[in-house]
Amino acid sequence: MQNVILIGFMGSGKSTIGRILAQKLKYKWVDMDVEIEKGENKTISKIFEEKGETYFRDLETEYLKRLTKQTNNVISTGGGIVLKEENRDLLKEIGTVVFLHADSAQIIENLKDDSKRPLLKGDNPEEKIIQLLDERESTYLNSANIIIQTTGKSIEHVVEEIISLLLI
Ligand code: S3P
Repeated sequence: MQNVILIGFMGSGKSTIGRILAQKLKYKWVDMDVEIEKGENKTISKIFEEKGETYFRDLETEYLKRLTKQTNNVISTGGGIVLKEENRDLLKEIGTVVFLHADSAQIIENLKDDSKRPLLKGDNPEEKIIQLLDERESTYLNSANIIIQTTGKSIEHVVEEIISLLLI
């Protein structure tokens, strides 16, 4: 198998699940936000603040392109990776795309103490979450080869479910 790529909204568990899935598959785990922060030597928040969202989106494309040359990675992406068509094409080229679908209440709960996500820094993060979820839902669905409902399931359960579907 080439690579497994996890997509989904902020707070849907892409990093936690990706790390454990990689261990189980004996793949390397790549967290794109972490790679970008290391490569640019800045936090995602700082990049947004200093250069803006469009610049960050271009960085995502650049880092995604590097992964086209690699195999046997589990890749945890940033929640906005699917927004650019170029990225959606790259994702399909890189490997099997798994959408981690969590419902809005779960995401709000997971992100309630968050201070790291620049897109949720306004006065009403809950409203922003609902709005972005609404805007992005169909794009996540259309970008995925496999869709996993995560709400109410343990991390281990979700990991096992992904593995069982990958092996079909
Ligand atoms: C973003 C999600 C974040 C990060 C950036 C933008 C988004 O990643 O890439 O803050 O647009 O949804 P996580 O999904 O890991 O929080």
